[in-house]
Amino acid sequence: MEFKEFKEFKKKFTLRIHNELEKILVMDKSSNKILEPMRYSSLNGSKYIRSLLVYATGSALNLEEKFLDQPATAIELIHTYSLIHDDLPCMDDDDIRRGVASCHVKFNESSAVLAGDALQSLAFEVLSKKKFTEVDDKTQLNWVNYLSKSIGYEGIAEGQFLDLSINNKNAEIDFLNYIYSLKTSSLIKACIVMPAMLKVDLSNSIHNKFEEFGRILGISFQIKDDLLGYTISTEILGKTKNKDEIRNQPNYVNILGVDNAKKKLEDYKNHINELLIDMKIEKTMLFEISNYIFKRHF
Ligand code: IPE
Ligand code: IPE
Ligand code: MG
Ligand code: MG
Repeated sequence: MEFKEFKEFKKKFTLRIHNELEKILVMDKSSNKILEPMRYSSLNGSKYIRSLLVYATGSALNLEEKFLDQPATAIELIHTYSLIHDDLPCMDDDDIRRGVASCHVKFNESSAVLAGDALQSLAFEVLSKKKFTEVDDKTQLNWVNYLSKSIGYEGIAEGQFLDLSINNKNAEIDFLNYIYSLKTSSLIKACIVMPAMLKVDLSNSIHNKFEEFGRILGISFQIKDDLLGYTISTEILGKTKNKDEIRNQPNYVNILGVDNAKKKLEDYKNHINELLIDMKIEKTMLFEISNYIFKRHF
């Protein structure tokens, strides 16, 4: 996979992942009813940043793109599930997601909980399906193991649990980093590590570097999200502006102020670039997509 421009790469793989999700969530007259909220929330305008990271990592490692569809699809399904639950009244109580009504507003709370559950289990169904003889069983087992650990008590669920347990803005920045590394980096790390698992001869030290890259990129992603939440309109964001202020939730901006949050983000950007150089993949689409994460306007 060689691309001259990030724009071309982004267009190609945004379409590819959208088509993969369409194929998985097929709905015809005889289909199960729960597919309606599942489709509604999965096919309604994600930026697909996580899939782009999967394909970019694959491209940096010279992997064939067809082997990346399973991890990319599984990760997008998990991401959407986590957002449906994140928006529920018992969590962030957010009525807007991706520019339209959140799942529980469009349908109802029980439908949203169940659609999220079904998306989560579908992710593992996709990941464990035998699709290519070239991808051995051990790699698929490693994928399932890694993704399940990423979203449970050592990953997203713990991060969300801690996030919802603080209800004033006095949190320490180190604690906030810890929460971000769980609620956001866990899945971003999976986007980098799962494609790398296709390289069976990858050394432990490279694996650890990929994981560290994902951790730092995930925290950066969330800090950028914090900054955008203050400066960009609900219309462009596709979700409620100033949500953390409304919920009295600590974030980088209300703890450090806009300028210092921007400075911290710049430090993380430099760290990311150093890691890319260290991993000798600084001239790949991973560099381009990292740049996009730091520069994005929504
Ligand atoms: C939103 O992620 C959730 C956070 C971790 C801040 P994205 O901004 O990637 O969401 P979509 O998929 O593009 O809507
Ligand atoms: C979402 O975090 C992270 C997960 C769903 C794991 P936030 O609550 O900060 O993100 P938005 O602002 O609702 O997208
Ligand atoms: Mg939240
Ligand atoms: Mg939220």
